Amino acid sequence: MAIQNIQIFDTTLRDGEQVPGCKLNTEQKIKIARQLDQLGVDVIEAGFPVSSPGDFESVDAISRIVKNASVCGLTRAVEKDIKTAAQALEKAVKPRIHTGIGTSDSHIKFKFNSDRESIVQRAYDAVKYAKSFVEDVEFYAEDAGRTDNAYLARVCEAAIKAGATVLNIPDTTGYCLPAEYGAKIKYLKEHVKGIDKAILSVHCHNDLGLATANSIEGVINGARQIECTINGIGERAGNTALEEVVMILRQHPSLNMDTRIDSTMLYGMSQLVSEHMGIRTQPNKAIVGANAFAHSSGIHQDGVIKNRETYEIIDPKEVGVTESAIVLTARSGRAALAYRAKQVGYELTKLQLDQVYQQFLDYADRHKEVHDQDIHIIVENSHLYREIISA
Ligand code: KIV
Ligand code: ZN
Repeated sequence: MAIQNIQIFDTTLRDGEQVPGCKLNTEQKIKIARQLDQLGVDVIEAGFPVSSPGDFESVDAISRIVKNASVCGLTRAVEKDIKTAAQALEKAVKPRIHTGIGTSDSHIKFKFNSDRESIVQRAYDAVKYAKSFVEDVEFYAEDAGRTDNAYLARVCEAAIKAGATVLNIPDTTGYCLPAEYGAKIKYLKEHVKGIDKAILSVHCHNDLGLATANSIEGVINGARQIECTINGIGERAGNTALEEVVMILRQHPSLNMDTRIDSTMLYGMSQLVSEHMGIRTQPNKAIVGANAFAHSSGIHQDGVIKNRETYEIIDPKEVGVTESAIVLTARSGRAALAYRAKQVGYELTKLQLDQVYQQFLDYADRHKEVHDQDIHIIVENSHLYREIISA
């Protein structure tokens, strides 16, 4: 069976940029957009054009330079938003308008002081109006995670009737459990009339740490686009992390799904976004964190030195990390010390290693980590120094 392509919709420059204090200027956004295009994302959500002149300018500038991906602008289900987005996207090779409205009872009552029927009509009207500007219109049902499935299906049907090409089913508050979110996508696949005219898209937030799991459940149940950000940045606890979903699909060929992403660019992409946004990536972040390929306990280090696959499921080079790191701490064993000592120029015999190891442990107990320069100090201070360097 042919491998199913899963489209990657990157929203680092829109949902990701909603992180407090992480506002980017147009020049920075252009730099990130160019890299995203090279990385191989299918869609770049470049901003929310009506929200500010700066956002309009960025979406316009990105539309002019992106060569391969579709460029998308967010709108509310409001004519002025849609018209402004269409103007900002005018120069895009592949423009997409992303319009929508809240569909949960709580949004309908408290945000819009409205009722279900009126919201269905607004969804239809917004998509229809967006279609008068561009062919590719994505509809989002905000807070779909907490929207009743039968009603959600009716809203989706209206959006398809108006010409939507993509239906985005956001778990806006990060509330859903993976099985529940997967069942929602399956329900829509099975109950929305005309569903074959559009693709379903997953957009998950990470309030309970389930964004990645929910996105994967979504594609297993029939969604064909994942909305995500580099490093999982985004509103509150963030969005689904692009690097995670891409590598999950690649690590599990039995799912028979893949993306067009050049995974060797993932680490560089993560660094670029982190530097420009001024947010350090947590060290234990999957795939791109500083410790994602670092081994510090003696048992693990011994295993990895014998064969990398004992404790690593991904070859670091596949994601653009040069090599696995053997971190020396008081929990490291002789194998790790010998390995790192060799890297800095000392080939220790078994006997020498036994003796230097005692001095290493003494040093390591007084320091969090033993670095290359510390290995030199330990060896130089050992009474074996002359013997080791003259070997
Ligand atoms: O989380 C959400 O519901 C969104 C929509 C605006 C697409 O970001
Ligand atoms: Zn969102």
